[in-house]
Amino acid sequence: MSGWTLRPMGSADVDAVWAGEQEPSIAAGLIHEPPTREVIAARLLEPPDAASHQVACGPLDEVAGYLEVRPIHMQGVSCGSFSVWVLPAWRRQGMADALVAEAEALSRARWGLHTLLIGVFEDNAGARSLYTRRGYVEVDRQWWWPREGPRRRVLLLSNQPDPRWMRRVGFGA
Ligand SMILES: CC(C)(COP(=O)(O)OP(=O)(O)OC[C@H]1O[C@@H](n2cnc3c(N)ncnc32)[C@H](O)[C@@H]1OP(=O)(O)O)[C@@H](O)C(=O)NCCC(=O)NCCS
Repeated sequence: MSGWTLRPMGSADVDAVWAGEQEPSIAAGLIHEPPTREVIAARLLEPPDAASHQVACGPLDEVAGYLEVRPIHMQGVSCGSFSVWVLPAWRRQGMADALVAEAEALSRARWGLHTLLIGVFEDNAGARSLYTRRGYVEVDRQWWWPREGPRRRVLLLSNQPDPRWMRRVGFGA
């Protein structure tokens, strides 16, 4: 499959994002409980200068891949963070790579933030390979306790191995 582009999102995308967040491999890879339709709708209807930004990847008006990027503030340090997923049928075509590049560009352009932090489950080999290839390195590791099931190890990766991150930053544990 080919012929996809990145585009900003709106209210017409709510159901597609909600369905994507329920897809089992996506739900298993993301370090958050799946958001409700109402939460997704509220985010997609935020004005462009709001504290998060959503980008779709796919052909025409489809949502084959999804990015949400936002500024975060931890222990006095500001940086960008993001969530990214791609539907199984569209994987290994460079969509996630394009979406992470967009997260980096948006973070710089909207908030002046060059450092991004991303949490990834230790057993998520595909996502770890994606980030490593883009120059992200591990700066911390923590535990994640999902609402159900056993705890899982999370690696905190950054594109800027700033010494400020080479210590525990209180990420989820
Ligand atoms: C991880 C995920 C976003 C990757 O999406 P994708 O569009 O298939 O990734 P890309 O095609 O951009 O891959 C870019 C590179 O990342 C690496 N990569 C991506 N998926 C991989 C996999 N399953 N196994 C090994 N390497 C992988 C490869 O180096 C790949 O380049 P290549 O295809 O030329 O070898 C997708 O598998 C997904 O949505 N998983 C579930 C949700 C999730 O885990 N999100 C990330 C949470 S931190």
